[in-house]
Amino acid sequence: MENLALKMQERLPAELIAFLRIAGKGAEARGQRLYLVGGAVRDLLLGRPNLDFDLVVEGDALALARWLAKGEGIGGENEKGGERVTVHRKFGTAKLRRGSLNIDLVTARSETYAKPGALPTVQPGTIRDDLLRRDFSINAMAIDLSPGSFGRLLDPHSGRSDLEQGRIIRILHERSFIDDATRILRALRYEQRLGFKLEKNTERLLRKHKSMLDTISGDRVRHELELILKEDRPEKILERAQALGVLQQLHPSLRGNGWLAEVFGEARQKAIADPALYLLLIVYHLSEEEIERFIARLKIVGELGRNMRQMPRLKGDLPALADHALPPSSIYRLLKHYPPGLIAACALASDTPIVRHHLELYNNQLRYVKTFLDGEDLKRLGVKPGPRLGRVLETLREAKLDGQVSTREDEEALTRQLMGRN
Ligand code: CTP
Repeated sequence: MENLALKMQERLPAELIAFLRIAGKGAEARGQRLYLVGGAVRDLLLGRPNLDFDLVVEGDALALARWLAKGEGIGGENEKGGERVTVHRKFGTAKLRRGSLNIDLVTARSETYAKPGALPTVQPGTIRDDLLRRDFSINAMAIDLSPGSFGRLLDPHSGRSDLEQGRIIRILHERSFIDDATRILRALRYEQRLGFKLEKNTERLLRKHKSMLDTISGDRVRHELELILKEDRPEKILERAQALGVLQQLHPSLRGNGWLAEVFGEARQKAIADPALYLLLIVYHLSEEEIERFIARLKIVGELGRNMRQMPRLKGDLPALADHALPPSSIYRLLKHYPPGLIAACALASDTPIVRHHLELYNNQLRYVKTFLDGEDLKRLGVKPGPRLGRVLETLREAKLDGQVSTREDEEALTRQLMGRN
């Protein structure tokens, strides 16, 4: 079996290697074996950077974490340097933080799924059990960290050959997508990220079991979708998800088409791309009812939910922005109650250049325009506190936007003029 110690030495931070050696020795001293598993092994073989390291111990993860925290592994610095080890007793997991490195430590386990989509029932097991419960062959390899066999690759599911020769995403057993349908979305994410293909039988089962996505909670689906939207080219994943019928399974009106690719690309060019903006673009063509359904399915809350709900109303206001002669004050009045994130999404999505221009003008300039005078100044000039004062301030702002006033004195004169009218 191949030894990857050299590759580890070349490709992983020296500080991590030192830690892994100490941790492996510590585990052995307690009669346990420790392994590096999952994404870190995959990325090590691919030569891709990855700062998240999952460790699995055949034994008691919490006891080992506590031992490491005492200073053996992560140094006496731990005592001075504050909290570096967080133990989640309930889940039997521990998180170790070391500079920019995130290290998770868990006990090797086997899993059984009582019902599709539910979280699994777990019990302690061997490293082989632990690899067997994983999503794809390329994520189901481990590297032994025991002193006598440090760097030995454990690859019971031929992940390495899938990674280096086949370049395929392959599930480990027929029920994989039934047990955990988030794997349907994960499969497409890895496929596009790595430029791989779904293995034939995996693709067949993915198509067959795509309705299992309905067994996954809104929070978990949203999390997976956000992970997709953090990839370099999420539109390719969405396009593939549409071709396989996966996108429609999440919501019948979603489309992963060329339009989406175009606006996503533009968002990246403008350096304003993020998952929230992408999600607004994804629902851009949906009706109010369809958006509500999407929000409910994905349990979207907070600002993003509010922005989505306002989308149809802003779209309804867009035709009013299609006038070249529109003064800045009118643009301001039309848009001032809409959040900038929503306006940015509509600017990308609109296919009318003048509408886009006005939306961008508002977001980049008009919304920042401030009058010289504030409420206190107006009171000093004799404006009584109350709604009237607010109206005078708005009138001053609009005059400034349209270039009718440009100095403090102009604003004072206009204020007096406004007061004189009543
Ligand atoms: N895993 C799994 N099934 C899931 C989620 C995770 O089997 N539904 C396993 C895989 O072995 C995976 C590991 O848990 O490699 C860690 O999961 P995660 O951190 O989500 O993925 P990474 O492999 O680290 O990949 P990424 O680069 O996307 O973070």
